[in-house]
Amino acid sequence: MKSSVGFIGLGMMGTPMAARLQKAGFLLAVHNRTKKKASSLVEEGATWCESPKEVAEKSEIVFSMLSNSEALFECALGSNGVLRGARKGSVHVDMSTVSPAITKELGNRYRDAGCFFLHSPVLGSVPQATDGSLLLFVGGNEGGFLRAEPALKTLGSRIWRFDQPEQASHMKLLCNMFIAGMGTTLAQALVFAEKANVDPIILLDVLNQSALNAPMYQTKGKSMLDRNFAPHFSLNICSKTSILCFRPVRNLMWLFRQPKLRRGYFLKPPMLVFQKRIILRSSRCWSDEQALKWERNSS
Ligand SMILES: NC(=O)c1ccc[n+]([C@@H]2O[C@H](COP(=O)([O-])OP(=O)(O)OC[C@H]3O[C@@H](n4cnc5c(N)ncnc54)[C@H](OP(=O)(O)O)[C@@H]3O)[C@@H](O)[C@H]2O)c1
Repeated sequence: MKSSVGFIGLGMMGTPMAARLQKAGFLLAVHNRTKKKASSLVEEGATWCESPKEVAEKSEIVFSMLSNSEALFECALGSNGVLRGARKGSVHVDMSTVSPAITKELGNRYRDAGCFFLHSPVLGSVPQATDGSLLLFVGGNEGGFLRAEPALKTLGSRIWRFDQPEQASHMKLLCNMFIAGMGTTLAQALVFAEKANVDPIILLDVLNQSALNAPMYQTKGKSMLDRNFAPHFSLNICSKTSILCFRPVRNLMWLFRQPKLRRGYFLKPPMLVFQKRIILRSSRCWSDEQALKWERNSS
C-alpha cells in the first residue's frame, strides 16, 4: 500500500508536484498559507489541513516546497509546525531552495525527536515539476530516504544522494550560480546583438551549433525573443538564492588566505559579478514587473 503523503506549499512548483503525487495514488493531505490555492487538489480528493502540524498528524511522509528559509523554519518548528504533529519514524522531505545552515539544524532537531528530515532541492522548473522530470539532490539519513523514495521517484527522473541534508542544499546553490549567471549573460547578449544589428535568432543558432550551447539558452532565449516574460522563477526567489550562495562562500573565505590555494582559485569573482547584478535590482525592492519594465526601457 502507498504511504500517506502530505504537501505544504502550493505555489508555482508545489501545486504541480502535489498533483503528480495525487495522480500516482498517494493519499494526499495539503496545507498552504493561502487556502484557495489548494482548491483544485481538494476537488480531486485531497484533504485540506489547517496547519503543517495537522498535515504531519495525517501523513507518514510530509513534503514542503516553500519560498525561503524563514518559511521552512516556521513550517517545521513553529508552534503549529510539522515536528509538533510528526509521529516517530515519519519523514519530512523539504524541496525548497534554502540555507544549508537551516537544513543542517533541521536534520539534527528531527533526529533528536526520532524523525527523519531530508533536504531534496530540485533542478528544473514548472514544466519539469508537471511532468515529473525534476532532478533531485537528496541529502539525509538512508532509512528516511528509502521510505520516501517511491514518492520522490514520482517527482523526479534522476536522484543524486548525499549523506547530510546540507550537502544537498549546497549542490542546489551551486546549480543556481549557473542559472543566474547564464540567464543574465543570455539577456545581455540578446540585447547587445539587437543593438549591434545582428539578428538574435542567428546568435541562438550559433550557440546551438557550438560548444557554447546549453538547453537553457534555447528555451529562455526563445521566450525572450517572443517577448514572453511570464515568470516561472520569480526575481525575488532568484535574488534570494544569490544571497544564500554568498554565505557559504564567505564561510570559505579562509581558503583565499592560503597562499598555496590563492593562485588559480577563481570562485569569488564570477560569484560576485552575478550577485551584484541581481542584488542591484532587488535592492531597489522592485517587483518582477517593475524589473522587466526597467529592462525593456533600458534596452
Ligand atoms: N520556480 C522555479 O522555477 C523553481 C525551480 C527550482 C526550485 N524552486 C524553489 O522552489 C521553492 C518554491 O518556489 P515557487 O516558484 O513555487 O514559489 P512561489 O510560487 O512563490 O510559492 C512559494 C510558496 O511558499 C509559501 N510561503 C511563502 N512564504 C511563506 C510563509 N512565510 N509562511 C508559509 N508559507 C509561505 C507560499 O504560500 P502562499 O501561496 O500563501 O503565498 C507558496 O506556497 C523556492 O524555494 C524556490 O527557490 C523554484
